[in-house]
Amino acid sequence: MNADSRKIDFYGRDFTITPDVLIPRPETEMVVDVVLNLVGKPILPGVKPRKAKLPQDCSILDVGTGSGCVAISLALELPAAHVSACDISEKALGVAQKNAAKLGAKIEFKKSDLMNDVDGDFDVVVANLPYVDESWDWIDKEALAREPAIALYAKDGGLALIKKLISQATERKVPYLVLEADPCQHERITSFAKENDYLLLEIRGFVMTFNCSF
Ligand SMILES: C[S@@+](CC[C@H](N)C(=O)[O-])C[C@H]1O[C@@H](n2cnc3c(N)ncnc32)[C@H](O)[C@@H]1O
Repeated sequence: MNADSRKIDFYGRDFTITPDVLIPRPETEMVVDVVLNLVGKPILPGVKPRKAKLPQDCSILDVGTGSGCVAISLALELPAAHVSACDISEKALGVAQKNAAKLGAKIEFKKSDLMNDVDGDFDVVVANLPYVDESWDWIDKEALAREPAIALYAKDGGLALIKKLISQATERKVPYLVLEADPCQHERITSFAKENDYLLLEIRGFVMTFNCSF
């Protein structure tokens, strides 16, 4: 670990974080919980899991993987699943690949602008894409200055990348979408998703789950 790196706990494991990636946030752990729910895996001991909507050997794509925290947690929690992850940043992919190797997670990594360069069919696409709009005056930009702008900011009220991903998921006929966004964006995302044949299943914290209606 060099002077710029630090360790951050995510879903009970240590991830190495460098200035090239977003620092994983606690609210993003819900993305992992939601996918475990979709495959009917218990999250808390003694709590009965929900009825599975997807098989344990489902295929999962994490778009905008950053440090790899979501993809790696999913690969380790669901050993039968096929997990792929992509990011537009080569440096971020380097960090994610090192974390995967250290934690023993098998993941197919790919450099890609959203799903453009990723082949294959996926049962579920998860994404914590940049969703902060630079015009938001309630954001403490100084506190975010240690993280890359490409991991934080998006145009169109922060929704530009999320909307593009929803459109791509519609074209690729992805059955389930699990997206993180600020709660102030949830209504607009729900409407856009509906226009693109995705119906909102549930919202938990920052995390929205959609199911296709096609
Ligand atoms: C908010 S960070 C999330 C990182 C990680 N998934 C997490 O939850 O900690 C967003 C990530 O999306 C990547 N990204 C930004 N634009 C992208 C694009 N057009 N296609 C793919 N990845 C993109 C950034 O490089 C960054 O790693």
